Amino acid sequence: MEKSQIGTTLTHHVLINQRAHAQRTGEQPSGDFSELLNQIAVAGKIISAEVNMAGLADILGVAGRTNVQGEQVMKLDVFANHTFVEILRRSGHVGIMASEEVDDPIDVPEPHFPGKYAIAFDPLDGSSNIDVNVSIGTIFSIHRRRGPVGTPGAPEDLLRPGAELAAAGYIIYGSSTMLVYTTGHGVHGFTLDPSVGEFLLSHENIRIPEKCGTYSVNEGNTSTWTPATQKFVEHVKSPDASPLGGMKARYIGSLVADFHRNLMKGGIFLYPADAATGKGKLRLLYEAAPLAFVAKQAGGYASTGYEDILAMQPDGLHQRVPLIIGNRDAVELYERSVSAETST
Ligand code: AHG
Ligand code: MN
Ligand code: MN
Repeated sequence: MEKSQIGTTLTHHVLINQRAHAQRTGEQPSGDFSELLNQIAVAGKIISAEVNMAGLADILGVAGRTNVQGEQVMKLDVFANHTFVEILRRSGHVGIMASEEVDDPIDVPEPHFPGKYAIAFDPLDGSSNIDVNVSIGTIFSIHRRRGPVGTPGAPEDLLRPGAELAAAGYIIYGSSTMLVYTTGHGVHGFTLDPSVGEFLLSHENIRIPEKCGTYSVNEGNTSTWTPATQKFVEHVKSPDASPLGGMKARYIGSLVADFHRNLMKGGIFLYPADAATGKGKLRLLYEAAPLAFVAKQAGGYASTGYEDILAMQPDGLHQRVPLIIGNRDAVELYERSVSAETST
């Protein structure tokens, strides 16, 4: 049968990359990571099925609770969280987890086997878009634990800079369901073929396009921004500004969807600090750091405006940070406008 008639599955792609990794490092692949990524894909397929049924099944609407962030929890958030926790606990490859929906670290109790990875995830990103049929997603980050497998994981396994990540990625539940991941050797996208139930390689070695033609920010917050942020957004909007003027605006309100569009077409996404508190809205561990790892691997960059997101040492599971992410030249222009303001 012609090679092209059988797509490259996630498992096959990881094995090819692990063989290349083994040649580079002499380390024999154990297959653990490939099994783990497949379990993440299984959870993604289960959530994708629910997302596509959300209009029909009784999981629309608010679950009546608020999460550690103080936000209304939509039923799909609860379902997605439960799915990831259960699937990852059973995988035998995870020793500890952190979820946006759970205040404390999530353990891997008997009879499950605590494996060698520590995973932080946002099970359902873009909750406000769930019941209006707009793209939403899941974001995950994977650290290699320091402690031996078979022993319970510790919060320190999770509270590490994004630069130390073993892998990161996201699943976007949109017009199609895609899984995008990196292990530090390029960014690769897989599209779910629902008729087969497999994620097939559709975007190998994704690179963010040179031209940054789009800016993505909630302009409803303009009055809360610092003058530097207000100046930067005015600059990228004005047609004759140089460099990087004349950008068009796109804002979906689901970080995964806004990020994915910029990765595919070029663009900068901003969720800047609130001038009054200096704090951002998005969470470092399971939103900013994993996407910063993906962005860097695709030739982009992510910053708070003051420092590289990947260099940050997390001080808590739900630490919030400002996030400026996308084309490197645009993010660096933002950093310069911030440092110009702080030096005056
Ligand atoms: P989550 O649904 O996981 O809480 O994330 C929502 C986030 C992110 O997806 C998006 O970029 C941002 O909230 C939108 O915030 P605003 O509605 O304040 O623009
Ligand atoms: Mn989110
Ligand atoms: Mn979420």
